[in-house]
Amino acid sequence: MRIILLGAPGAGKGTQAQFLMGKYGIPQISTGDMLRSAIKAGTEMGLAAKKVMDAGQLVSDDIIIGLVKERIAQDDCANGFLLDGFPRTIPQADAMKDAGVNVDFCLEFDVPDDVIVERMGGRRVHSASGRVYHVVYNPPKVEGKDDETGDDLSIRDDDKEVTVRDRLGIYHTQTKPLVDYYQAEATAGNCQYHKLDGTQAVEAVSAQLAELLG
Ligand code: AP5
Ligand code: ZN
Repeated sequence: MRIILLGAPGAGKGTQAQFLMGKYGIPQISTGDMLRSAIKAGTEMGLAAKKVMDAGQLVSDDIIIGLVKERIAQDDCANGFLLDGFPRTIPQADAMKDAGVNVDFCLEFDVPDDVIVERMGGRRVHSASGRVYHVVYNPPKVEGKDDETGDDLSIRDDDKEVTVRDRLGIYHTQTKPLVDYYQAEATAGNCQYHKLDGTQAVEAVSAQLAELLG
């Protein structure tokens, strides 16, 4: 099963990717997590990406497309994958299509901007695994600690309110056109497109997904 999770920053893509990985046994491909790993490793690409990410802008299509192509070619993606945060521009979607990578489902998480800003203020992450928490809506079992490893949780550098607003602006101009793009793909019979109400509680959104995907 090949799935695209489409939605604004903070819409819940990473949170539901954790649920879907567990339920369907397919890997999550999060371009954001891949970039954050490159930053942590101190690679040249990571250092260049950090400046762009901290400013709430998008990393260049060429870099992202290269990262995803390399990842999708790995063995664990043979039976499917979850794309989280990719594609994010029309050229990225076109590159995937040109490479012959088809998808089965495009799932849009619909969440208004104000809800997003509130969510990002309370987000805490376990950067090594990509696990995501919220201090109120999805708290860890022990405050400030990852449920599985007990490691300290952290706050993402791009979760400052001003940066979140910039990221939302970019989403509306550069990523939202993918809604029409994938709806047209669905009309042409190339995939299924579903819009989910992402404002519901985490478990309720997971239940919507389980019902859609079977
Ligand atoms: P990326 O890491 O992809 O960030 P994003 O798309 O901005 O999305 P987020 O990770 O912020 O949100 P999410 O939808 O995963 O929400 P989450 O589940 O964490 O990208 C970061 C940066 O990298 C970009 O800005 C860009 O610079 C660069 N980049 C990445 N991909 C790129 C690409 N393809 N092209 C170019 N540049 C790229 O949830 C958010 C919070 O809400 C959490 O606290 C969570 O616990 C809580 N929450 C989740 N669901 C619910 C719910 N139902 N109810 C209440 N709270 C909830
Ligand atoms: Zn995410």
